[in-house]
Amino acid sequence: MAVKLETGPLIEVLRNTSRVAVSTGSGISAESGIPTFRGKEGLWKKFRPEELATPTAFSKNPKLVWEWYDWRRGIIAQKKPNPGHKVLTEWEKNFPQFSLITQNIDGLHQKAGSKNILELHGNIWKLRCINEDIITENYDAPLKEIPPLCQDCGALLRPHVVWFGESLSSTILQKAFLLSSQCEVMFVIGTSAVVQPAASLPLAAAQAGAKIVEINPDPTPLTSYSDFSFRGKAGEILPLIDGELKIISRS
Ligand code: OAD
Repeated sequence: MAVKLETGPLIEVLRNTSRVAVSTGSGISAESGIPTFRGKEGLWKKFRPEELATPTAFSKNPKLVWEWYDWRRGIIAQKKPNPGHKVLTEWEKNFPQFSLITQNIDGLHQKAGSKNILELHGNIWKLRCINEDIITENYDAPLKEIPPLCQDCGALLRPHVVWFGESLSSTILQKAFLLSSQCEVMFVIGTSAVVQPAASLPLAAAQAGAKIVEINPDPTPLTSYSDFSFRGKAGEILPLIDGELKIISRS
């Protein structure tokens, strides 16, 4: 079914905007076939985060935790970026100042071709030595050994992701708040907007005067703070907005 949207007022804002920030969550990858966390088929409906995504779970049973991440890596490895991811790669080239902040760890923004990505929750393709804190990239799916071990020191490697009960990197977080407070328009795409501190970024943007654009099939706690709310899928709405922008830039 074709989506009909009233994009005019947003396009009017965007044609006079040079600083755009985008904050994405798992919903942007849903159309690529990667499960979200809290939806009907969401990961947290089937798995208990405290058994799989906490430092305690890892120290208790690293094999189990790694088996779960290895399963997720196997799913993600087969998936391709969708038109929503692709539009954001275009916007990175076309807006004078563009920043992409994501809670996603799937690496699909990179796969689509986005260059500058602030990954708040880490990346599932990166492994970190629990002894030396050294980060390596590893794209094996499945992994050759579970749990994987550091080639340098033999200690356990862990997924380079943020688990429940852990803090985000302060450098990344500071940058994310800075970019949010400096943008003129912030798009918030495919996130339930309930996980902190990511959920506060659009509020910081709004407080600094930015217009907030939410793209999500369902309302979220952010909806009432949004200047524009598009109820639908990112892979459909973003190409529509992009198409309108291209028409304007040609006229
Ligand atoms: P959630 O699963 O909480 O929310 C996904 C959101 O995407 C929901 O609001 C959906 O309505 C929306 N959605 C679904 N399909 C969509 C589509 N095609 N286009 C646009 N939106 C769509 O996922 P996140 O908000 O990303 O953290 O979750 C935040 C964090 O909670 C994750 O990064 C993860 C999780 O626990 C950690 O693991 C630290």
